[in-house]
Amino acid sequence: MSDIVIQEIADGLHLLRISDTKTRFFEALWEIPEGITYNAYLLETPEGAILFDGWKRNFEKEFVEAVSSIVPPGEIKHIVIHHMEPDHSGTLPKMLELAGEDVQVWGHPFSQKLIEGLYGKSPKFNGVKDGNILEFGGKKLLFVQTPWLHWPETMVTYLPTERILLTGDIFGGYSIPSGVFDDQVDTSEYLTFARKYTVTVIGHYKEKIGKNISKLEKFDIRPKMILPAHGLLWREDPDQIVQAYLDWGSGKPKKGKITVVYSSMYRFVEKAIEVAVDELKKQGFKPVIHRFVDERRDEIGDAISDMVDSEAIVLGTETYESDVFPYTEFLVSEMEKKVHFEKPLLLIAIFGWAGAAGKKLTKKLGECKFDLVDTVEFKGLTTPESEARIREGVGKLIGAIR
Ligand code: FEO
Repeated sequence: MSDIVIQEIADGLHLLRISDTKTRFFEALWEIPEGITYNAYLLETPEGAILFDGWKRNFEKEFVEAVSSIVPPGEIKHIVIHHMEPDHSGTLPKMLELAGEDVQVWGHPFSQKLIEGLYGKSPKFNGVKDGNILEFGGKKLLFVQTPWLHWPETMVTYLPTERILLTGDIFGGYSIPSGVFDDQVDTSEYLTFARKYTVTVIGHYKEKIGKNISKLEKFDIRPKMILPAHGLLWREDPDQIVQAYLDWGSGKPKKGKITVVYSSMYRFVEKAIEVAVDELKKQGFKPVIHRFVDERRDEIGDAISDMVDSEAIVLGTETYESDVFPYTEFLVSEMEKKVHFEKPLLLIAIFGWAGAAGKKLTKKLGECKFDLVDTVEFKGLTTPESEARIREGVGKLIGAIR
């Protein structure tokens, strides 16, 4: 599939999708070897066009060309902004310039301040409230605010006649799907990338997911087609992505899944973790393992994403300079914000000459209100005694699940 997809996906409604394979760290933070797409949409009507969102500014030239392949930008009469994060609004200044000063911009009232703050522009702006409707060119657009998915100004647009919902970040995912719609790809694989996007980008506001989805139902929004601003579009089974978002928002676990994450400089922690994994497998669990070791460093976004639909967590850490290993510290700081703290957690900590990481992390995890069932801490070597303590700790972990 080409890097740019321009496709009419409903009567007069065009997808403008670009694949970004150059961004290594999304938001300069989350490593995404899987890539990402930016999806904007353009609706043609007899009275002019309506543009929904845009692309990252790096792709400004390509975006202007994509829009121009459908309509001259001067024929855009309305621009709808679902979300002002610059991965979607980066092309806005150029589009405002090309559309001309009469173009009407629609968005959450707070977006107006962000347009001024981020781009120094003051277009003709219509701040929308829940249930506001724009009728234009024979089309009807219903706007509903969806705050904190992912910024405070986020909103969605519903076309009630066509039952099409444009959702910005919501229901989006990382990766560059080989097809446009859910019926064209293996959604089970894609959902892993959608979960990672949800947890890393929206996870801090996870309690807002269920609230905002309930709010959409109050407006009788029952979409046949869901069009997010990243990743796959949903037309065969839109309920699948809605249910997945609800599950990730509430931390619903998959039976038997345990996420194991550890740091190990010289494989002493790894040996201890191998004992824990062996015990978990003996008890019928399926551990998913992420590691920070000398040969590889797994992505923290993948690790916290796996935690969200796990039944429990095993965390192994090195002691480093009388403190917690730095990558583990970063991991825990993100767990605190994005992982459901009620999940049972077993901590395994190793030290060379003085215990520090175990003590400090036990305190920190307690402050975060994680259900820390046990801390197993010992000097480097996994002795028969320490092995017995690890297996005992795993027993407590399993007991906290059942
Ligand atoms: Fe895809 Fe919150 O931006």
